[in-house]
Amino acid sequence: MRDDTVSSALLEWYDVHARVMPWRVSPADRAAGVRPDPYRVWLSEVMLQQTTVAAVRAYFLRFTDRWPTVADLAAAADAEVMGEWAGLGYYARARNLLACARAVVAQHGGQFPQTLDGLRSLPGIGPYTAAAIASIAFDLPATVVDGNVERVMARLHDVHTPLPAAKPELTALAASHTPLNRPGDYAQAVMDLGATICTPRNPACGICPLIALCAARAAGTAPSLPRKAVRPAKPTRHGMVWAAFRPDGQVLLELRPAKGLLGGMLGLPGDGWDGAGGPAPVAARWHEAGEVRHTFTHFHLILTVQTALTTAPPLRGRFQRATATDLPTLMRKAHDLAAAAHAPPAIRRIENAG
Ligand code: ADE
Repeated sequence: MRDDTVSSALLEWYDVHARVMPWRVSPADRAAGVRPDPYRVWLSEVMLQQTTVAAVRAYFLRFTDRWPTVADLAAAADAEVMGEWAGLGYYARARNLLACARAVVAQHGGQFPQTLDGLRSLPGIGPYTAAAIASIAFDLPATVVDGNVERVMARLHDVHTPLPAAKPELTALAASHTPLNRPGDYAQAVMDLGATICTPRNPACGICPLIALCAARAAGTAPSLPRKAVRPAKPTRHGMVWAAFRPDGQVLLELRPAKGLLGGMLGLPGDGWDGAGGPAPVAARWHEAGEVRHTFTHFHLILTVQTALTTAPPLRGRFQRATATDLPTLMRKAHDLAAAAHAPPAIRRIENAG
């Protein structure tokens, strides 16, 4: 059953406290009739999956500056888009982003479909993203469920079932509060509440607009919710990359296969830490520059970085400049570690002294 008590209190709060974001139409502008651009809503929602608002902001501005419409993005070269995405992580999102832009142009005349099913049929758009676009861009009363919404619902209704088993129950509760009036603003209001007040640790219940309605607040259980099933520890994998430099500073990079970890991204040639295998990519006198560590969704990775200066022809990859942003974070760390090993000794001494 739909109950508007919660949504009314939240919308009143959102009218005053909505966060300002480059992809967002403010509640005042929305009330004055301004409609969000579905392209910007979609792009922001894809970027925000697994990534914080703070990290997304600069990427969003660069993308929309360079590709202002979905048609511009659809026409972009794959390598350009993957390069702009470098550092945001979860690179399958970038490949799906391009596939989705091209599908919107080729199959929908450049307009995002305005139904949940139509949105769901597009590459990279799952239940969360479809609901977010439907509600935020088209003001449809779709139920948007992300981690913020799960936490707010678990506390509001004092749900003790651990995640992920609690998902269906929390989704049903979220649906019961989704209003027919201003569903787009409501979806963003719950997210803002979860990000700023109903936070995972130390929720600021004293200033929460839902304090009088919150069952966990009454029971004193809010900070411990939602409960989470204990996850098995992530395994640690070990691997190696080779950072070969030309005397002019160019580094040997190769385009990784489209599928798999860091798929479609530029990287230093590796030894198979993700199952690819293979010997050193160029003849050289290698030495070890050190280790870099990185945590992926399903494992920790410790990568040994071998480095060398060489003028030999590469067996794979291409020598090129590693510009500031076009390497994924792991590869950037490995590259910088190796490059530091080749800095002139006098400079290294000064840096180490600092
Ligand atoms: N997180 C994901 N999407 C968001 C949005 N539209 N507003 C605030 N936080 C978000």
